[in-house]
Amino acid sequence: MASNPAVIVLAAGQGTRMRSSLPKVLHSIAGRPLLEHVVASAASLNPDSINVVYGHGGDLVKERLSHLDINWVHQSEQLGTGHAVEQALPNIQPGQTVLVLYGDVPLIEPETLHSLLGQSAESGFSLLTVSMDDPTGYGRIVRNTVGAVERIVEQKDASADELDIHEINTGILAVSAERLKIWIDALDSDNAQGEFYLTDVVELAVRDGVEIKTSSPSTVEEVQGVNDRQQLSYLERFYQRKQAEQLMQQGVTLIDPSRFDLRGRLDAAQDVTIDANVIFQGNVILGAGVEIGANCHIKDAVVEAGTGGLPNSVIDSAEIGPNCRIGPFARIRPGTKLTAAAHVGNFVELKNAQVAEGSKINHLSYVGDSTIGARVNIGAGVITCNYDGANKHQTVIGDDVFVGSDTQLVAPVEVGDGATIGAGSTIVKSVPESQLTLSRAKQVTIKGWKRPRKKEAT
Ligand code: UD1
Ligand code: CA
Repeated sequence: MASNPAVIVLAAGQGTRMRSSLPKVLHSIAGRPLLEHVVASAASLNPDSINVVYGHGGDLVKERLSHLDINWVHQSEQLGTGHAVEQALPNIQPGQTVLVLYGDVPLIEPETLHSLLGQSAESGFSLLTVSMDDPTGYGRIVRNTVGAVERIVEQKDASADELDIHEINTGILAVSAERLKIWIDALDSDNAQGEFYLTDVVELAVRDGVEIKTSSPSTVEEVQGVNDRQQLSYLERFYQRKQAEQLMQQGVTLIDPSRFDLRGRLDAAQDVTIDANVIFQGNVILGAGVEIGANCHIKDAVVEAGTGGLPNSVIDSAEIGPNCRIGPFARIRPGTKLTAAAHVGNFVELKNAQVAEGSKINHLSYVGDSTIGARVNIGAGVITCNYDGANKHQTVIGDDVFVGSDTQLVAPVEVGDGATIGAGSTIVKSVPESQLTLSRAKQVTIKGWKRPRKKEAT
């Protein structure tokens, strides 16, 4: 290849059929906007530039994707794909190869683009085409008697014979920039839709003696566009299935790969088992032998070897050490770190809690902004009162502490090593180590007391 390609991504269309206030290219697959998928594929080719042609709703697109390294090119009126490409040409040097992609064709693979670029380096023009059982709606590839590409005809301009052609134009192509500029200048809008068709450059190239090379993607899904929400959900499932297959090849057991969702990146060591309906988001790392129960949602988390997550647990921005037991129905919120062998049971919420080895918080508790030592037992219904309405305060609990059920720890408060707190206590002062502390009204019994009775009906 002479130089690195210059990529043009067409994304100015309205996407009316999505019936959405959100521009189409901001709809997501696997939690990532469609346009971002395309830009990631393009970026992996090391291009000189990525130029995104945007139009309707463009300010929102630019804002949401401002972290991407791209040139934004505005197309104020959508006069056709040829016109759209023309808007980006001033950014492109004559010696470059232009690669045209589509913002709403999200699953195109770098390898496919690589071979397309290789072909265009040989002849100056290559097209990505595919044979479809039902080619309705697509531009058809018209070949001559010896099989060479002659031109592309759009569905709306095609003759009955041409409509019978099953080889379609995916829209993705690679072409020498220098010549593309000349052919784009020569386009007219003399067609059924009154648009400047990019596809017409094929005929102009052939007239100039250029051989049009063609290649195909390895799956048709790579070149499928998203026009409505059915197509979006189809590609979502296709993409998820592909990720699931890759994980299974790497040695992960997925109980049901059709009920697996990864919206980000998952690094899983050997013999990880993931039950049905688990959603992973952001960056998640799972150690060897980790078992994740059904219906868990795990986001930006590290879960170390031998830990089991029982069903219906939520982990967000937390570190779970080895050999812990989480859930069922646990909620572990940002900033939490469990060192090792901790148990966090049902209806327990942890937030910004540091829990040392072997401690147990098994039932119905809220522990926030807390540091908990090793081998601590937090009884059922214990609450750290970390918020006074204005500020958050810390609870610090030493090693080997036993906190009786239904205790409130009003922070800031410290509990010394080996302390025992009686059930039902409201702790507002520091608790000394190794002793029993409790704050509880004395139990009394009223002798001869009678329960009120309803009047007998007469
Ligand atoms: C186009 C191709 C057709 C191909 C099909 C593949 C042309 C003339 N036809 O048809 O051969 O089979 O794609 O899906 O190129 N866009 C702009 N600005 C415009 C017009 C379009 O940015 O002025 C963008 C759209 O946002 C869209 C893409 O270009 O992402 C394709 O446009 P669309 O109008 O959908 O083209 P098709 O008629 O589908
Ligand atoms: Ca289209």
